[in-house]
Amino acid sequence: MTQNFGSANKPNLLSGMQPSAGSLHLGNYLGALVNWTKMQDDFNAYYVIVDLHAITVPQDPKELRDNTRRTAAQYIAAGIDTDKSALFVQSHVPAHAQLAWVLNCITGFGEASRMTQFKDKSQKTGADTASVGLFTYPILQAADILLYQPKAVPVGEDQRQHIELTRDLASRFNTRFGQTFEVPEAHILKETAKIYDLQYPQAKMSKSAADPKGLVNLMDEDSIIVKKFKSAVTDTEAQIRFDRDAKPGVSNLLGIFSLLTGESVSVLEDRFAGQGYGALKTELADAAVSVIAPIRARAHELLADQAELDRLLAIGADRANALAETTLAKVYERLGFIAATK
Ligand code: TYM
Repeated sequence: MTQNFGSANKPNLLSGMQPSAGSLHLGNYLGALVNWTKMQDDFNAYYVIVDLHAITVPQDPKELRDNTRRTAAQYIAAGIDTDKSALFVQSHVPAHAQLAWVLNCITGFGEASRMTQFKDKSQKTGADTASVGLFTYPILQAADILLYQPKAVPVGEDQRQHIELTRDLASRFNTRFGQTFEVPEAHILKETAKIYDLQYPQAKMSKSAADPKGLVNLMDEDSIIVKKFKSAVTDTEAQIRFDRDAKPGVSNLLGIFSLLTGESVSVLEDRFAGQGYGALKTELADAAVSVIAPIRARAHELLADQAELDRLLAIGADRANALAETTLAKVYERLGFIAATK
C-alpha cells in the first residue's frame, strides 16, 4: 500500500524505458533490466515507463497504448517484482510534467543544445521539423529522476550525458533555492554498458536499427532469435577471441554469451578454441532462447489479463505519486509559489 512503500533504511533508485516499440531488445535487457532486478532488494526502486518521452517523435495512439502495456509486461516477466518495487507509467504521475517545466526554466538554451541525442535524432528529420519536446527531452528525464530523490540511476552508457545534466540541474537548484534534491549517481556497469548490433557491431543495439536482423527482441519467436544470431556479422579470421577493435562482431557475441550464461569471456575463448564461428553462434542462439523464451511466455500471459496489469500499474502510480507530490510541493515552496488554499 502507498503509505507503507519505501523503507527509510534503504536508498532510493529510479530508472525507466521508453514504450516506443512492441518489444524491448537484448540491449535493454542486459544493459538495464537485469541490473534493475538485482537492485530491488537493496533500494526503494521506482521503475517508470516513460510515455511522455515517447510522444517527442510522431506516434500512433493505439500503438502507444499497446506498447506501454507490452513494456510493463516485459518488465514484470523479466523479474521486476511489483510487491518490492514501484512500477508505473509516467503520465499517471502529473508531477513529471510539472517539475520538467520548472527545470526548463533553470536550463540554459546552450546547455540544452549540447545534448547529443537531439543532434542525432533531429538529423534524421531535420532540426526544423523535430519537435521542441524532443529538444527538451533530457530536461523531462531530469524531472523523472529528481522527483524520487534517488542515489542511483541504473542505465546503459548511452544515458550518461542525460544523467550528467540531471546532476547539474539538481546542484544548481540546490545552490539557488536551498537543499532540495539528492544529486544522483549514474550506475553503469562496464560489462553491460553497451550491447552492440549484430549486423553493425560498431553501433549500439537500438530499436531504430537500420536492419531488423541486428536487433534481438525479447518478444521474438525462438526461430527468429536463432536466425538473427546465425546471420550475425563476424570477420574472415575465423578465430574466436575477444578484441573489440579488430573483431567487433565476434567480441559482441562473446560478450552477450558471457552475460547470458555467467561464463567469463576467457572461459568461452578456451572452450571454443579451434572451432568455427558456426559453433559459437549455435550455442549462443540456444543460450539466448533459453533466457528469452520464458520471459516472452510470461509477458504474453500478463498481457492476456489487461485488467490485472492495469491494476498493478495503478498501485505503482499511487506509490510514485506519494513521493513525487512531496518533492514537487517542496520545489514550489522554494521557488516562491504561494500554496493554493484548500
Ligand atoms: P531507452 O528506452 O532507450 O533504453 C532503456 C535502457 O536500456 C539501455 N540500453 C542499452 N544498454 C546497453 N546496450 C544497449 N545497446 C542499450 N540500448 C538501450 C539504456 O541505457 C537505458 O538504460 N532516455 C531513456 C529513458 C528515460 C530514463 C529516464 C532512463 C526517461 N527517463 C529516467 C533513466 C532515468 C531512454 O531513452 O532509454
